[in-house]
Amino acid sequence: MSNSIRSILHLSHPTLRQTATPVTDFKNPLLQTLIDDLLTTLRSANGVGIAAPQVNESLQIMIIASRPTPRYSDAPEMEPIALINPKIIGRSSEMEKGWEGCLSVPQYRGFVPRHQSITVEYTDRTGTKIEATFTDFVARIFQHEYDHFLGLVFLDRLESESDRLTAEEFKIMFPDTENNQSLTSANPAPSHINC
Ligand code: NI
Repeated sequence: MSNSIRSILHLSHPTLRQTATPVTDFKNPLLQTLIDDLLTTLRSANGVGIAAPQVNESLQIMIIASRPTPRYSDAPEMEPIALINPKIIGRSSEMEKGWEGCLSVPQYRGFVPRHQSITVEYTDRTGTKIEATFTDFVARIFQHEYDHFLGLVFLDRLESESDRLTAEEFKIMFPDTENNQSLTSANPAPSHINC
């Protein structure tokens, strides 16, 4: 397995505003290298999701890697999965708002509405077609990463300006358990994703 940590683009980079193209050559060994690099980069950034455009590869590849951390203590634990060319085939009408961050937009947090569940078809890294339904936190990660394929970020999904905080304001308003172990459950830090 490759161990290359790729640098993560920030929002000013034009690749993050492009539409990502589908993967067509599943036999190209560079595809496996890119997926390995995304896994390594995501782990090193301590995130729960990443999309290929964030490392300047405008391709429809994302990693979802939900796991509980001090910051997201309720997150489900799962093996990281690579989703190639995912298509949304169903969405719940129910929406939920939750806090999100993005490895490409480190200065802000946003309170973002997302579908509570989402059903997708994708190809995995072995070339197998998979259908899956994601709910809650994992559905949120999927929708966040899918937006990166469309050239969008979570800031584009906010319903109002007041749903955007700077990272500093967020820390003050919601001192999280990572920095404040004495926080009581009566005043829980909201879990938010960083993708
Ligand atoms: Ni992101």
